[in-house]
Amino acid sequence: MVEEEEKENFDIDWLNERYPFDVEARNKALESKVIAHLAKKSSITLVDVGAGTGSNCLYFVEQFSQNQNWYLVEQDTDLRKATIRRLKDYANYYKYSFEQKKGTIHIRSVKRKITVTILNDSLLNLAALVDLKKVDLVLANAVFDLFSTEQISELVDLITKNKLNFYHTLSYEGMTFHPADPFDDVFVGAYNEHMERPQDFGKALGRKASQYMVELFTAQESAIQSATSTWNIAPIDIKMHYYLLNFMENALGEMDLAPAMQSNFEKWIRRKKDLIITGQQRLEIAHLDIFVKG
Ligand SMILES: C[S@@+](CC[C@H](N)C(=O)[O-])C[C@H]1O[C@@H](n2cnc3c(N)ncnc32)[C@H](O)[C@@H]1O
Repeated sequence: MVEEEEKENFDIDWLNERYPFDVEARNKALESKVIAHLAKKSSITLVDVGAGTGSNCLYFVEQFSQNQNWYLVEQDTDLRKATIRRLKDYANYYKYSFEQKKGTIHIRSVKRKITVTILNDSLLNLAALVDLKKVDLVLANAVFDLFSTEQISELVDLITKNKLNFYHTLSYEGMTFHPADPFDDVFVGAYNEHMERPQDFGKALGRKASQYMVELFTAQESAIQSATSTWNIAPIDIKMHYYLLNFMENALGEMDLAPAMQSNFEKWIRRKKDLIITGQQRLEIAHLDIFVKG
């Protein structure tokens, strides 16, 4: 029970921690194209897949000026309460009205009506969850690195067959430490390889997921545009540095490294922590954003 509570808090805390880095990194030029593409509609329906605690919705609700009908598709039911709390905090901050009726949240300002429905299900069941004919945009933020080729193909097929607009942001592609360490390539490489480990549903694509999506959409002759969105983690962002090192420690801990490599890894982690403590660590995390016009 304690472990479960900790896990829940950990996931929520991590999604909160990454939010401002995502906001800063988002590729604003590509984002403007997405917003312009829907600008003529007075009311839009948006589906955020792999919604987590609703970060995409919370960010875009203020970027779009029209009425919005959101569906947040998230398989982890533990994130539901935190999502509702964040939406309520958002409404309170802007002095909008907030009401929850039969599983749908209604937020109203003088100018706009926003509804949000959380659907706890797999995004791979999307066609059964929402009426795709009414959907103006499918969004996803940082979702597909743990998906297999088959799962990504399934989603791309669904998007293209239904001529949906699709906007996927902050898809992980790699990391670069400053200052560099002679062992960075080895351990970042091992971390990337760990992401591609076999799962119940097949081998995940890891950092190759977004490029694979680009290839699939291109093969379908979809109108696709892509752009980079890099996290710049400064020396002062200590919590983020620790989060990312912990992810690496956990991942490589599962990899059964040879003893000499294990020892090198422990020394590498120590050097990274020394740089964090002394305010010298910078880290760039490369991401890709893609926008497909349906
Ligand atoms: C890295 S988090 C990103 C969450 C959110 N988009 C954000 O930007 O904060 C990835 C999310 O995708 C969800 N997810 C993974 N596979 C899923 C699936 N098949 N269906 C629905 N959600 C899924 C996870 O539970 C997790 O909440």
